[in-house]
Amino acid sequence: MCLRTLLLFYAVIALCWSMVRSEFAANYSHNHDESLSLRSARYKYEIKTFDVRVDHFSFAIQDTFKLKYLINDTWRKERNAPIFFYTGNEGNIEVFAENTGFLWEIAPKFNALVVFAEHRYYGESLPYGNKSFADPQHRGYLTSQQALADYVDLIVHLKSQPGYERSPVIAFGGSYGGMLSAWIRIKYPHVVQGAIASSAPILYVTGVVDCEVFARITTSDYKTVNLTCSKLIQKAWNTITKVASNDEGKKWLSDNWKLCEPLKTAEDVQALKNVLQNIYIDLAMTNYPYETNFLAPLPGNPINVSTYHFKTDDLNVIAQVFCQHLTNVSLTGKSLLLALHRAISVYTNYTGKTNCMKNTIEESRLGAYPGWDYQACTEMVMPICSDGVNDMFEPMKWDIADYNNTCFKKYSVSSQPYLICEEYGCKDFNTASNIIFSNGLLDPWSSGGILRNLSQSAFAILMPDAAHHLDLRESNSNDPYSVRVTREFHQFWIDKWIKEY
Ligand SMILES: *[C@@H]1O[C@H](CO)[C@@H](O)[C@H](O)[C@H]1NC(C)=O
Ligand SMILES: *[C@@H]1O[C@H](CO)[C@@H](O)[C@H](O)[C@H]1NC(C)=O
Ligand SMILES: *[C@@H]1O[C@H](CO)[C@@H](O)[C@H](O)[C@H]1NC(C)=O
Ligand SMILES: *[C@@H]1O[C@H](CO)[C@@H](O)[C@H](O)[C@H]1NC(C)=O
Ligand SMILES: *[C@@H]1O[C@H](CO)[C@@H](O)[C@H](O)[C@H]1NC(C)=O
Ligand SMILES: *[C@@H]1O[C@H](CO)[C@@H](O)[C@H](O)[C@H]1NC(C)=O
Ligand SMILES: *[C@@H]1O[C@H](CO)[C@@H](O)[C@H](O)[C@H]1NC(C)=O
Ligand SMILES: *[C@@H]1O[C@H](CO)[C@@H](O)[C@H](O)[C@H]1NC(C)=O
Ligand SMILES: *[C@@H]1O[C@H](CO)[C@@H](O)[C@H](O)[C@H]1NC(C)=O
Repeated sequence: MCLRTLLLFYAVIALCWSMVRSEFAANYSHNHDESLSLRSARYKYEIKTFDVRVDHFSFAIQDTFKLKYLINDTWRKERNAPIFFYTGNEGNIEVFAENTGFLWEIAPKFNALVVFAEHRYYGESLPYGNKSFADPQHRGYLTSQQALADYVDLIVHLKSQPGYERSPVIAFGGSYGGMLSAWIRIKYPHVVQGAIASSAPILYVTGVVDCEVFARITTSDYKTVNLTCSKLIQKAWNTITKVASNDEGKKWLSDNWKLCEPLKTAEDVQALKNVLQNIYIDLAMTNYPYETNFLAPLPGNPINVSTYHFKTDDLNVIAQVFCQHLTNVSLTGKSLLLALHRAISVYTNYTGKTNCMKNTIEESRLGAYPGWDYQACTEMVMPICSDGVNDMFEPMKWDIADYNNTCFKKYSVSSQPYLICEEYGCKDFNTASNIIFSNGLLDPWSSGGILRNLSQSAFAILMPDAAHHLDLRESNSNDPYSVRVTREFHQFWIDKWIKEY
């Protein structure tokens, strides 16, 4: 297994987005197409920029750049309206605005100003334009600390506007964005009055997390649906190796899986396996109870075992789901691989319009690349491994020395696996206040989440039947009870934090 690819998954959280938006399955009516594209244009905002310093922590360089942010002041009614501030994560900020419906839904109730700030080095917020990643000098300012300092400057700027002098600020974020919203409250309690940190793996760090847990949670998402499903996924690794061990087999697999590039070498086969891992993890992260197109267009409950019927705009849609194709325990050899292809098509070809299956992970397609790869190499080192016994993946060791060497070759900087704990803390959080850490337990990233209450006002909320930051998405009639309750909990505390300010 390729370590680096696994680490990119974190980036994938938001970003296969650009892929397909409005094209939907052959069996889907035209109306259905339209409802999805309308949904994607749901939220309205103005786009602005703000000049921030490239380096907040020294007087050595005076360079500045334009940080992009999205703003909507329609619901702000009175002086000192609350500011709902999304601490952007690794990607184009519009993606996060579209996928954080909860914030949009509650802003009118609180008469809040809505702001989504883009993370430096992503989207259009590039400190040195197209040279931002050219060399260590230019890319070296990509750190979470600098990003938080950008957000602080922007908040101070917003509050310097007439009528906002005493506005309370509530930070929101999901995933890495959730880590940032928690950290900004921890580091700058005089600037941010409270934070909603959804699916924020702030403990996914060296020496704290067991590197195996991520793979185990992913596996259990499949196992609980149908034991045979995870067994067959596990069995398929060897089957792929065997079938693709000769030229004829490589051709058979390339043809039957409709690969974009025919398999030629053992490395090609390994790259294909990496794509499969990617798919299994993405499905676990975005195992949402209704149709979405966050990482890829997907049916509701995409891992489910039985064909999923759902209603949308008065249409009955019948969607294929993953494990439906992997329940026959006797499947072996080529018939197993044909069944697996039908299963992964739920992810790669839900629209029915994919001509060929990509056999490498396209880094450039991710709005997160190369920024997240660099962050994962420097401060966001996230140890992931698998043993192939307690999980359905091929065995893969975690080796920080190897990891660091690969990173050093690419970026000429040394990984700093302990920096996060030094900078933000990993234990002794008893001084943390006004933060809600929510975690869906179907989400592999809950392995690094805060799962216990930390103090009188820093809470852990567990949602047993939710995937990656489901509570931050817009509400849906299929949302599980735990997610509805969590959203109520968020609002209760946001209200309290605002009143206390
Ligand atoms: C496609 O839709 C039609 C009409 O709703 C339905 O009868 C048919 O079974 C569907 N086909 C598939 C493959 O789901
Ligand atoms: C804010 O959002 C509302 C609802 O979508 C929209 O009507 C309004 O025009 C938006 N305001 C701005 C300033 O974009
Ligand atoms: C980088 O930007 C400069 C100035 O905008 C442009 O002239 C140049 O072609 C760009 N280079 C690349 C590789 O895109
Ligand atoms: C998996 O699904 C198949 C087909 O629905 C069923 O026969 C089998 O009992 C299931 N196995 C488990 C362990 O749930
Ligand atoms: C599978 O889908 C059904 C609805 O068709 C749903 O009730 C059930 O909770 C789903 N199971 C999982 C594990 O998603
Ligand atoms: C299960 O797979 C075996 C081997 O390919 C096949 O002979 C059998 O018919 C399949 N069973 C079902 C119910 O599809
Ligand atoms: C995607 O689905 C369509 C319709 O079923 C099919 O014609 C096409 O070959 C599939 N593409 C791939 C890559 O499997
Ligand atoms: C990473 O590799 C570089 C170059 O070999 C070395 O100087 C550095 O000490 C290593 N850092 C860690 C954390 O292993
Ligand atoms: C944390 O405290 C809140 C409020 O009292 C409670 O609802 C929640 O269940 C607690 N979380 C955990 C993980 O015990």
